[in-house]
Amino acid sequence: MAARVIAVEPFDIVVFGASGDLASRKLLPALYHRDLAGQVPELARVIGVSRRPNTHEEFRAAAREAVQASVGAGKVDEVALERFCNRLFYVPVDVGADKGWAELATLLKDGEDRIRVCYLATAPELFTVIAGQLGKRKLVTERTRLVVEKPIGKSLQSAREVNDTLGSVFAERNIYRIDHYLGKETVQNLMALRFAYALFEPLWNSRYIDSVQITVAETIGVEGRAAYYDTAGALRDMVQNHMLQLLCLVAIETPMSIEADSVRDEKLKVLRALKPINEANAQTLTVRGQYRAGAIADGAVPGYLEELKSKTSHTETFVAIKAEIGTWRWAGVPFYLRTGKRLATRVSEIAIEFKPIPHSIFGDSAGPIFANQLVIRLQPDEGVKQFIMIKDPGPGGMRLRQIPLDMSFAQSFDGRAPDAYERLIMDVIRGNQTLFMRRDEVEAAWKWIDPIQNAWESARQEAQGYTAGTWGPSASIALIERDGRTWHESN
Ligand code: BG6
Repeated sequence: MAARVIAVEPFDIVVFGASGDLASRKLLPALYHRDLAGQVPELARVIGVSRRPNTHEEFRAAAREAVQASVGAGKVDEVALERFCNRLFYVPVDVGADKGWAELATLLKDGEDRIRVCYLATAPELFTVIAGQLGKRKLVTERTRLVVEKPIGKSLQSAREVNDTLGSVFAERNIYRIDHYLGKETVQNLMALRFAYALFEPLWNSRYIDSVQITVAETIGVEGRAAYYDTAGALRDMVQNHMLQLLCLVAIETPMSIEADSVRDEKLKVLRALKPINEANAQTLTVRGQYRAGAIADGAVPGYLEELKSKTSHTETFVAIKAEIGTWRWAGVPFYLRTGKRLATRVSEIAIEFKPIPHSIFGDSAGPIFANQLVIRLQPDEGVKQFIMIKDPGPGGMRLRQIPLDMSFAQSFDGRAPDAYERLIMDVIRGNQTLFMRRDEVEAAWKWIDPIQNAWESARQEAQGYTAGTWGPSASIALIERDGRTWHESN
């Protein structure tokens, strides 16, 4: 199926942190792909900003390399890449000081009427500094939008402070808080599955659903981000944002429309209905882990402390949580969340476990009847699998067998799967906030996370060691097995 390209208005996107990892791994390749697809209008410019004293040409050369590395050798369309590089400009700015701001203002003057996107791909400490400077230096026009990556703060209090400062310069309708999981194709498919399909909705509640599991497993370690990661940990890095956003999309009531505030209002209700986890119950409802040296896909990998080059750290690289949503729809349905680094395999998926049939008419010889399962796979191999029972083909009486109805997107649709950032950047330019987090959502998520973090700190709940290449500490298996359930096996 050919993708549809919807033209956008001319824009200037100013990428702060242009020499950083996010810009080169994600943003520049995403913009190149959109340009290649013909979506970027002739006048559009990408203006890189960072402290490095580069020239336009140096920035273009670095961008060319970044795109080539991302797209893969021999796969780049050289003509399109050349055209894309000609849109690139660079201004060295010391964002906390005076240097460079006047030059940036002069460059932007040329496109004053265009949509202007200020994308903060910088260290989080700089979000408020840059927003403040943009305001002070009058670089915020009626059509200027601010994009901020996570983390927004590290607690409710600090998130509020960041949001207050951003809000003093930009109206909420112009602030785009990115959670790149919302740009993933299958995450949006979750919306299609729930709201463009009549079969599941009557079953989508505690009467028919036994439990929900959300797994985001990574095989990578902390890579070059150890300094940030060690102050965050898996709870803040993954659960506060990506995992809770996935949980919200599974659990929301039907929004009135796909319009941003309709969807975000419903997500907010879910976040507010999460039952508190605090000192009273954190020990039983949560597990923290930290990886030790091990092996993944036959290759030896170091432990977290070795990667960190430190003797001690209490930061968790794995977390499992049993969450519950206190609403009529979900009362009594556990949502098991688990995420970690250096796990056995890279997989992100949501498994919906339905309740077993109330009574079997088949005798013992038919074999066990497994409850139906719906598995939504975000990555890799995006797709949806519905596990159902069938009669084993052929003679031999009525014997039942479980098989998956498998809808793999790679097999069903041709072409390259666009990266989440391509959609999200274009949504910012189109002014569509549906896939971005509103201030109250971010704060509601912290309001649920803070007591968990505090409970761990006050009880000194240790991160249990797990060998890299496994599924995390054994306590995570115990967390779900205590309830007579098991983690869905991803393969
Ligand atoms: C980021 C986290 O938000 O998401 C990283 O900070 C994590 O620690 C990454 O590795 C995972 O994203 P993806 O798209 O690779 O699943």
